[in-house]
Amino acid sequence: MSFDTFNLVRGLHILAVIAWMAGMLFLPRLFAYDAEQAGRAEPLRSEMQTLLREWQRRLLKIIINPSMIAAWVFGVWLILIHVYTFGEGWAFLAQPWMATKLLAVTALSAWHGFLAGEFRRIGAGTSVRTGRFWRMTNEIPFLIAVIAVLSVTVEWRFG
Ligand code: HEM
Repeated sequence: MSFDTFNLVRGLHILAVIAWMAGMLFLPRLFAYDAEQAGRAEPLRSEMQTLLREWQRRLLKIIINPSMIAAWVFGVWLILIHVYTFGEGWAFLAQPWMATKLLAVTALSAWHGFLAGEFRRIGAGTSVRTGRFWRMTNEIPFLIAVIAVLSVTVEWRFG
């Protein structure tokens, strides 16, 4: 494997991450609009929720889930290039900046899982989340992304 492969995989990783982040930042907004239909009269309420839930489903299944898988596949590929091709060994993962990076991507994946669960609960009518909750938590993925990105660009270490 040449050095160019590393740069190609790095670029594909960043592209997958952009799509993942875009979806994760937009989905809670659709959840907020959905929750805020509660005050509307029928049949407008049902019509709006049917439309919003179709948009939620498409965003999750067509953008968010596949791009999360792609981000992980290219991310793990990058790890394997460091470990084997660059001969850094598994100690690569033990570097402090890589540890915070993995912590951040684990947190982002957990938030993704929570959103997917909420999508199912909203469809089943069992979600207890309000529009206010979704507006207040909307920036969580971005805050996690700050840690994920700065970990790899700064490569901070002790001492
Ligand atoms: C899904 C699991 C992920 C894994 C396993 C992973 C792993 C990695 C690895 C090993 C690198 C190469 C680091 C280097 O060679 O310096 C990298 C680069 C990068 N990652 Fe991730 N990553 C993941 C998710 C994310 C997420 C969620 C973001 C942003 C929100 C992100 C942003 C970046 C950026 C911007 C780079 C390029 C850094 C540079 O070229 O200096 N990654 N990732």
